[in-house]
Amino acid sequence: MVKRLRVGVLISGGGTNLQAILDACESGRLTAEVVFVGSDTPQAAGLERARRRGIPTFVVDYRAVTAAFRENPGAAALPADFRLEEIRAKQGLMGNTVDPARVDGFLVSRAMAEAALLAAMREIPYDLIALAGFMRTLTPYFIDRVNSDRASLRLMNIHPALLPAFPGTDGYGDTWRYGCKVAGCTVHFVDYGEDTGPIIGQRAFPIREEDTLETIRRRGLEQEWELYPECIQLFAEGRLRTERMVHELPGGRRFERSVVRIAPAA
Ligand code: GAR
Repeated sequence: MVKRLRVGVLISGGGTNLQAILDACESGRLTAEVVFVGSDTPQAAGLERARRRGIPTFVVDYRAVTAAFRENPGAAALPADFRLEEIRAKQGLMGNTVDPARVDGFLVSRAMAEAALLAAMREIPYDLIALAGFMRTLTPYFIDRVNSDRASLRLMNIHPALLPAFPGTDGYGDTWRYGCKVAGCTVHFVDYGEDTGPIIGQRAFPIREEDTLETIRRRGLEQEWELYPECIQLFAEGRLRTERMVHELPGGRRFERSVVRIAPAA
C-alpha cells in the first residue's frame, strides 16, 4: 500500500499543470494530495483552481520584494541563516563574467523572497515540492532548505523543452525558432543550475511543417499534463533513485553527472 504523498505546488500563471495534478489525485492515478499552492504573483489565475478545492494558498509577491530591495538595498532584512559566500559559491544561475555586485544583489533579494516562501511552506508538512510553471529561478538558499536530507531530492520541475536543450523561460518558443523537428518536455529534480538537474522523464513529439508556435505549445502542454503526474507517481512509489555517474572520455577527460534511476514496479 503506497502512502499518499503530500505535494506542495508552486505556480506563477494559469496552472494547467496544477490542474492535471489535482485531477490525477482525484481520479486515483496519483497516490497523492496537493497540500498547498504557493505563488510569486498575486494575480496567478491558477490560485483560483486551488481555492475552489479548499486547498490552502499563499503568495510571496516577488515583484514587491525585489522592488523594495532595489529602492533601499541597505535595509534588506536577511534571514538569520543566510550565508552569502556559501550561496555565491554554490549558485550556477549566473556565469562568472557577471558583475559580482549584481550577482550578490540578485542572491540577496531572492533570499528575502525565498525566506518568505519557506516560512509559508513550513506551516504545512510536505513530502515533495512540484514547480508547475513557477517562473522564478530558485537559489541554493531555497533548494538546500527543501532538500533538508541531501540524499533525497524532493524539488521537481517541469520544463517545456527536451533538456538540456533550451533551458530558460520560453522552451517551446526557443525550440520552434531554432527550427527543431522534434519538441518536448522534461520533468527533472532541481539543482543549482538553470534547468540542469537530474532528468526523471521526457516526452517528445514531432514538429510538422504546418505547426505554429501556438500548436506546439498546445500539444506540448497536453504532453506535460500526462508526464508530470506520471513522474510524481514514481516518486510516490519510492522508485526514483539518483546515482552519480562518472565516465572516462577520450583524451583523459571525465564526464560526471547525477542521473535518475527508475526502479521497476513492485
Ligand atoms: C508550462 O508549459 C511549463 O512547462 C512552463 O510554464 C508553463 C506553465 O503552464 N514552465 C517553465 O517554462 C519553467 N521554466 P501552466 O501554468 O498552465 O501549468
